[in-house]
Amino acid sequence: MPDYNLNINGKSHAVKDVDGTTPLLWILRDTLGLVGTKYGCGIAACGACTVHLDGIPVRSCSFPVSEVEGEKILTIEGLANKDGTLHALQQAWIASDVGQCGYCQAGQIMSAAALLDENPNPSDSDIDAAMEGNYCRCGTYNRIKTAIHIAAVSLSTKGGKS
Ligand code: FES
Ligand code: FES
Repeated sequence: MPDYNLNINGKSHAVKDVDGTTPLLWILRDTLGLVGTKYGCGIAACGACTVHLDGIPVRSCSFPVSEVEGEKILTIEGLANKDGTLHALQQAWIASDVGQCGYCQAGQIMSAAALLDENPNPSDSDIDAAMEGNYCRCGTYNRIKTAIHIAAVSLSTKGGKS
């Protein structure tokens, strides 16, 4: 079986002897121990496993490892700022006490981060559209929306830097 060299959170990771159809999610969690990314449905329907590929949010449960070599993969473990402070979204999540059981939250934050990269000042409907594929059994949707607005303001006052 082939080897792959993956760029994850700015670091190169050699992944050896894996079937190319293996979902990226299992490489992250089982091979590399990056367990912040969660397994929910396994069929690209819940958003728990969301990571970024070259800045685009994707469902890692349904993305084969053979298709991600050479792309920049960002997981929740790599979202914090280079100086070690939490990303504005993570700070807003804490300030708004968003998380309940927490299971969906990494995927929610990664979808929200991609939204703010694309649209620094989203409306409620922009947020609804960007986040509609991320499900939360605990029903934290209103707090998520509040936190995204808080993070957007925070990022805008810092010149767009997280
Ligand atoms: S686990 Fe990937 S979308 Fe549900
Ligand atoms: S916080 Fe529990 S599923 Fe979202």
